[in-house]
Amino acid sequence: MRWGPIGLPAVLLGIAALAAVTQPEAWVWDIPDTRRGMAAALVVLLYLGACTAGAWRRRSRNAVVVPAAGIRILHASQTGTAERIALRSADQLRQAGVSTACAALGALDASALETGGTCLFVISTTGEGEPPDNAFAFERGAMRTRPDLSRLHYGLLALGDRGYARYCGFGVELDVWLRDCGARPVFDRIEVDRGDPRALRQWQQALSALGGVPAAADRVSPRYDRWRLQAREHLNPGSVGGAVFRLVLEPEAEAPGWTPGDLVEIRVPVSGETVQRTYSIASTADDGRIELMVRQVRHPNGRTGTGSGWLTEQAPLGADIALRVRENHGFHPPPADVPMILIGNGTGLAGLRAHLRERAQLAAAPCWLLFGERSRRHDFLCRNEIEAWCAGGVLARVDLAFSRDGEPVRYVQDALRAAADTLREWIAGGACLYVCGSLHGMAPGVDAVLREVLGADAVDALRTQGRYRRDVY
Ligand SMILES: Cc1cc2nc3c(=O)[nH]c(=O)nc-3n(C[C@H](O)[C@H](O)[C@H](O)COP(=O)(O)OP(=O)(O)OC[C@H]3O[C@@H](n4cnc5c(N)ncnc54)[C@H](O)[C@@H]3O)c2cc1C
Ligand SMILES: Cc1cc2nc3c(=O)[nH]c(=O)nc-3n(C[C@H](O)[C@H](O)[C@H](O)COP(=O)(O)O)c2cc1C
Repeated sequence: MRWGPIGLPAVLLGIAALAAVTQPEAWVWDIPDTRRGMAAALVVLLYLGACTAGAWRRRSRNAVVVPAAGIRILHASQTGTAERIALRSADQLRQAGVSTACAALGALDASALETGGTCLFVISTTGEGEPPDNAFAFERGAMRTRPDLSRLHYGLLALGDRGYARYCGFGVELDVWLRDCGARPVFDRIEVDRGDPRALRQWQQALSALGGVPAAADRVSPRYDRWRLQAREHLNPGSVGGAVFRLVLEPEAEAPGWTPGDLVEIRVPVSGETVQRTYSIASTADDGRIELMVRQVRHPNGRTGTGSGWLTEQAPLGADIALRVRENHGFHPPPADVPMILIGNGTGLAGLRAHLRERAQLAAAPCWLLFGERSRRHDFLCRNEIEAWCAGGVLARVDLAFSRDGEPVRYVQDALRAAADTLREWIAGGACLYVCGSLHGMAPGVDAVLREVLGADAVDALRTQGRYRRDVY
């Protein structure tokens, strides 16, 4: 039980009042009975006044009084940001003495919420207003029902980016569903546009109101390490598409570990400030260096993209790069004995390459790569490596789709459809699907073919089981 600033004095006064009325002799008040009665009445009045003030204060601050038992923190996270905030919030509440449990939203079903209590939701949106993969099971299961959540008190932090049409889409959807089911918000939904520090401070204040977390314990800035740009290679000279570069970065001190599927966040200098850009790691920790595949963005006015232009053009070889590795659970590998179907286009090959490089070192189950780009002549990225993996048995099958070569199979999704029987066989054999690359065009196209070939329920089940993973941007 946690006492608010009014609650504790009110209770003490209440005890005093009761004691004064019921056992006046126990108190060292050597006063006549009538005056003792008046004192007791005064104390009772004070007690009632204090209780009313406390209740009014709580009502005006929060919609409901928060039960002081444990707090559950649930996250929906595609690339780890919401998960990190959830874990940090849980730590802060624990340090303030509040018992806290943290889990992925998808690990829960509706009945776990019906029991009531207090839940905090840290919710990202991915795709085009979609739930992250680790919340997909919850969206498809619990959120299609109407459980009675009237005993649930909750707070919700929605992470998003106003650049997307459905800003904080999934966070909003979850909030609406919770209210429709009778759950009671302890504060209004907090929306965070691209990590906006003001909104994150609001969340910190909400935490402090809930559990006594000091508001000063503001967000901890993530640590960036210094890396050196060691090499840069133009991978697709002559391409009609944007130039793609392989970058090699070496750590200045000891390299942190990472897992295939992880990302880097790079601080890009822009007129005395920095902005962050995210890239998929194309190498393994055993390589001891980080390799990236970066496409140079070029805007219609000829200007290069802030991050990609700096990395592929402006930063000189040997430049210091401030970088941190971002864990991306959602795209980590399956056990080595699980066959992998790797599907990607363009620089999406980066995220797939890290998996293949790791698998090449293990006695792993076979992999099948489907890769799409513009032309075989100019855009067959990592060709030598892919051919070597085929020869060495790391890749049991490769399907290529070059959209500008005039072949009947134009895009990876067409290549996937053309191999429908093989796809069914691999999935029946327990294979996982990993998709990396374009959010627009490729990822929805691949998804549509999967649904066409395997059936919508089977695809949903694969996603729920973590056998269908995506790193698309
Ligand atoms: C999970 C993930 C993995 C990625 N992996 C790769 C990869 O392996 N290879 C690759 O080439 N690209 C990758 N990207 C894309 C990359 O992060 C950049 O968006 C891309 O390089 C273009 O950024 P720019 O600064 O060059 O262009 P800009 O012109 O600066 O940006 C293009 C547009 O996107 C917006 N924008 C892009 N990123 C951000 C951001 N982080 N914060 C705020 N606004 C932003 C800008 O406002 C602008 O409107 C990945 C993105 C994500 C999310
Ligand atoms: C591929 C992709 C799709 C996204 N789609 C949306 C969207 O539809 N609406 C939105 O508000 N934010 C969108 N975002 C922004 C993310 O919600 C935001 O960056 C969030 O902080 C990511 O958190 P996470 O690391 O926990 O997944 C998208 C981000 C990416 C990379």
